[in-house]
Amino acid sequence: MILIVDFGSQTTHLIGRRLSELGITSSIVEPEEALKEMKKNKPSGIIFSGGPAAVYMAGAPTIDTKIFTAGVPILGICYGQQLISHLLNGKVKAGTVREYGPALLYIEKSPLFANIADRSFQVWMSHGDEVVRLPKGFFSIAHSENIRSGAIADEEKKMYGVQFHPEVAHTQHGMDVLKNFTNICGETPISEEIDIQTIVKRIKETVGKKKVIMAFSGGTDSFVAAALIVKAIGKQLIPVYIESGLMRPQALMNVIHIFPKYFGFTPSVVHAEKTFLHRLMGVTDPETKRKTIGKLYIELFEKEAKKHTGVAFLAQGTTYADFIHSKSTKYAALIKSHHNVGGLPKDMKYTLLEPIRYFYTDQVRHIGSVLKLPRSVVFQQPFPGPGFAVRTVGAVTQDRIRKVKQADTIVVEEIEQAGLKDHIFQYFAIATGANSTAIKGDGRFYGEVIAVRAYTTKDRMTADWAKIPYEVLQKISTRIVNEVQGVSRVVYDITTKPPATMEWE
Ligand code: XMP
Repeated sequence: MILIVDFGSQTTHLIGRRLSELGITSSIVEPEEALKEMKKNKPSGIIFSGGPAAVYMAGAPTIDTKIFTAGVPILGICYGQQLISHLLNGKVKAGTVREYGPALLYIEKSPLFANIADRSFQVWMSHGDEVVRLPKGFFSIAHSENIRSGAIADEEKKMYGVQFHPEVAHTQHGMDVLKNFTNICGETPISEEIDIQTIVKRIKETVGKKKVIMAFSGGTDSFVAAALIVKAIGKQLIPVYIESGLMRPQALMNVIHIFPKYFGFTPSVVHAEKTFLHRLMGVTDPETKRKTIGKLYIELFEKEAKKHTGVAFLAQGTTYADFIHSKSTKYAALIKSHHNVGGLPKDMKYTLLEPIRYFYTDQVRHIGSVLKLPRSVVFQQPFPGPGFAVRTVGAVTQDRIRKVKQADTIVVEEIEQAGLKDHIFQYFAIATGANSTAIKGDGRFYGEVIAVRAYTTKDRMTADWAKIPYEVLQKISTRIVNEVQGVSRVVYDITTKPPATMEWE
């Protein structure tokens, strides 16, 4: 078993997931609990996660240095590497060059890089600080174009540090690095599969004879969560779809056509388009926007739930990515409040039921496929709960929602027409709130700039922008400026995540 010490990285859970893909058991603990946990579980190795703090700042999370004398191999990732260096008398400083996103790593010979034939490969970085003086006994075993301490090692003590993130899908050989570390620890893999029967059994035991109201959105996560619940408790599930006017047309189709076809009953539909617009009037701050929407959803659910007796649970299709982005561990930074996590009131009277909370998108899709849900549902694009409101930067008005929806339909049509659907994870339009000048006919026109965002990712924690052929981009651009009234210009977003999140707000 490998102990993962969480210093607040967005990808801490992903380290655990990668280890489990390698057939290695792990447990995530907070730094304060690490020594106690070591005594209890006797791990064969320890991984320090990344984190948003700077090791030299007051109040930065740290760890008891006794951990270094326990005689167990340690791998520090990003902040973890910096913390090892800082605590063992090396030096960490704000770097002159910050690296966010892809970087080329040049490696030396080391057991950490065993069985990797390439001498250089692409890794994913996300750091402002770097180790500038190594602790005694450590050597650099990899560098990037910007930093010498791409990876460091004290081979004798089996202590390693990497500045990049081996756990994210965009790091080439990331799995090899983690596998090599577990080999150094002497771990042997056991195979682990998602056990759907156990998930269903647990839902049944938890819910008993009570009823479950569900915030059903028509999206993949929601559909898969609903399928697991229906398998467990059938019609004790009361799915409610709130039509906020901020969703894609496919969502309603899934609710009123596909759901009844598969489960034999129809979710309730609450039309609240006007209420959402009214509540969002004058709201421009992204976090306030998300919270306003989350609050209204809950209000409307509570109103709907009152119509039923015996409701004890509120079900949601929350996944691990939603959960981690909404600051769910002690040292994690808040990136954005996903409405289905951050917006819930503290005094909510229902118990949350979230059957896919610990799964990532690809695992959720796997469950959906095993449950034989239609492909159009399982592989549909994810769509954020706050919908087009977070793709309309600044004030949300009926007219701007119209613009972004029409532009979005064009993006979807053209990407699908070009046969790119299965190669791009998400593709959509954003009403940027910026205005620019154009010439339409022979006259001056001043209107909104629409951005197009499309990217590839495995688990949504890191992403690369999609290299869409120019002809397709051209067609999207021409159609949007010609067909969507009030639009002057189209731009393509070419930013990786990190640093940029996928949604603009
Ligand atoms: P970001 O913008 O955080 O998005 O990089 C990561 C993924 O999450 C989706 N997303 C949301 N999903 N509720 C959701 O259910 C939300 O509030 C929300 N915000 C973003 C986003 O579309 C992307 O797939």
